[in-house]
Amino acid sequence: MKQNSILPAASPAPHGQTWNPDAYAANGRFVANLASSVVALLNPQPGERILDLGCGDGVLTETLAATGAILTGVDSSPTMVAAARTRSIRSGFIIDQHRAEDLPYQARFDAVFSNAALHWIPATRQPTALAAIRRALRPSGRFVAEMGGHGNIAAIRVALQTTLARYHIDAEAAAASFFPSPATYTRLLQQAGFTVNSIELIPRPTPLPAGMEAWLSTFRTGVLDRLHPQDRANAIAETVALLRPVLRDAEGNWFADYSRLRFHATAS
Ligand code: BEZ
Repeated sequence: MKQNSILPAASPAPHGQTWNPDAYAANGRFVANLASSVVALLNPQPGERILDLGCGDGVLTETLAATGAILTGVDSSPTMVAAARTRSIRSGFIIDQHRAEDLPYQARFDAVFSNAALHWIPATRQPTALAAIRRALRPSGRFVAEMGGHGNIAAIRVALQTTLARYHIDAEAAAASFFPSPATYTRLLQQAGFTVNSIELIPRPTPLPAGMEAWLSTFRTGVLDRLHPQDRANAIAETVALLRPVLRDAEGNWFADYSRLRFHATAS
């Protein structure tokens, strides 16, 4: 493929990903729907102050607020913050726009919760983000989260890496995702001043009712939007073709090879 088929990133997102709330609502609703285990681990209580870090469009924030807890949602994406604010007006919670590294809160929350967001923070910025989360918690406050862990979406990443190399793009570097093992994240949490009460890596093949093309167009925009539209369409078709034998079953159902890292930690 031609070198000049790569578009300059118009405004590089801090984590290489841009969000379209409409595409997310159509193709990413499963993210909130599959959060029941991490919500149970959080065990929100009425009157508790809880920060939902990486709240996206606020669907899960709204679910948590319905327990009687007092929710603040934060996200770094202006488009997602706008969508979450619309929801917050009718449900009465606060939405702020911050990166995790820049959280301004001091001993404000009983718990920090995060679902499917921490893996968007590159490895180099994790210590700063975890220190800011620690500062936001009251003494003995808890940090309960689920994120992509080691081996997350391995087949999808290998297929993208293979396809996009032909367009002179290093897909792994462009995505800048962070999928740590339990040992690696335990060390980072401890270094930031947390006691880790539980942490586990959970393989979770995840049905994609809208298919792989919709998943790539929703969750890998930071990588794919570097291509001109025709190359983008070809790259998606090539990636889908590579993945079809391993992530689509005989009935035509698509799955993503998710592997979740779920943990419960306490501010020491
Ligand atoms: C995740 O939730 O693990 C994830 C989603 C989209 C891209 C990368 C990871």
